[in-house]
Amino acid sequence: MPELVLRGGRVVDATGERVADVLVRDGLVVAVGEGLEAATTLDASGCVVAPGLVDLHAHLREPGDEDAETIETGARAAALGGYTAVLAMPNTTPPLDDGAVVASVLATGARAACEVASSGCITKGRRGEELAPMGELHGLGVRVFTDDGACVADAGVMRRALEYARSLPGAVVAQHAEDPALAGRGSMHEGEWSSRLGIRGRPAEAETVVVARDLLLAERVGARIHFLHLSTARAVELVREARTRGVAVTAEVAPHHLTLTDAHCATFDPAFKVHPPLRTRTDVEALRAGLADGTIDAIATDHAPHRAEDKERPFEEAPPGMLGLETTLALVLTELVEPGVLDLRQALAALSWRPAAIAGLAGQGGPIEPGNPANLCVFDPAATWEVEPARLASRARNTPFAGWKLAGRVRHTLLRGEPVVLDGEARR
Ligand code: DOR
Repeated sequence: MPELVLRGGRVVDATGERVADVLVRDGLVVAVGEGLEAATTLDASGCVVAPGLVDLHAHLREPGDEDAETIETGARAAALGGYTAVLAMPNTTPPLDDGAVVASVLATGARAACEVASSGCITKGRRGEELAPMGELHGLGVRVFTDDGACVADAGVMRRALEYARSLPGAVVAQHAEDPALAGRGSMHEGEWSSRLGIRGRPAEAETVVVARDLLLAERVGARIHFLHLSTARAVELVREARTRGVAVTAEVAPHHLTLTDAHCATFDPAFKVHPPLRTRTDVEALRAGLADGTIDAIATDHAPHRAEDKERPFEEAPPGMLGLETTLALVLTELVEPGVLDLRQALAALSWRPAAIAGLAGQGGPIEPGNPANLCVFDPAATWEVEPARLASRARNTPFAGWKLAGRVRHTLLRGEPVVLDGEARR
């Protein structure tokens, strides 16, 4: 593999920041310093050079729904968004509850534009009844177990999953915290807007009762628990309080829950339909505060592509979910870093090295030091652009951010030293 130097960027990682060149050879960072030379020079002036972003939550739709996304197109969208690793969610057809299916996702992912790690189901068929073969999946490299898209509603099953995961090194159980009985057939947050619009709601308690219960179970069992896409102020409080008691809890938040509210549903545009739903301004503020004080560890895209004909159905019939991989970094920079909610290093911690640690992805998340794999992203924080759905690399178009003008554009993404995005263009 050719050697190259990233020239003159602001190198930011978990250890600090400095303006420096980064020399990359044979897939590794070999030097960080001044005046480094190589056959190829990539300009990074005015740019941030960071460890590649790591997404804990990407629906890649393969196998089963390749019209909406594939591992190849999803990974390309990820690379364009600055990601060098994504964790594939298990709600595929068939689901990721079986060694052969997980092995095939990993094999396809090995040729993709970013590292594709596979989650594994907690229960067979994501039905919430019988545990999936977690030990076998762990043997294939699975570290994050989740039924995402569905909540493990049965407390006894959850307890057994936590007990089993405790015996698997590096494993974590990740809960989609929405009690199905409380969420019912609701399509948006239950509150003032749902009453006004006449749309059935999903109450905040659908999330909080599961978070409270699982914190108690994880504490009792002594196992790690991760909460996917938290959306409510009360859940942030519960996690904060549990941490002070020493519960091994981590949590993520999705970019849309940090930037949009249930008031957006007044458009009746299904692009704003997502599970868990967009909540209130109070919830948005609490999630932001939770990120800022470290209660929430990670920002995860919950990239959920859907076919246009499905997302064009009426609000209550359309499937939930929105795209995220190509907009998350710019949204975080524009909506959180620029106004001072987070500083740049806090934002990158939540987008890169903390999620890498949660998923146990060695070689991702930096630091940018000699000997470490060159999984890097180079972005211009000042470059502005407009979100145009037709120009996204994802196969789907369901972004709620169409027309938003954002600051922060990925210039280069390096996967194991290879430029998979060069001057903003995908090369794989
Ligand atoms: O909005 C959502 N969409 N929430 C989920 O949990 C699943 C996801 C999907 O797969 O489309």
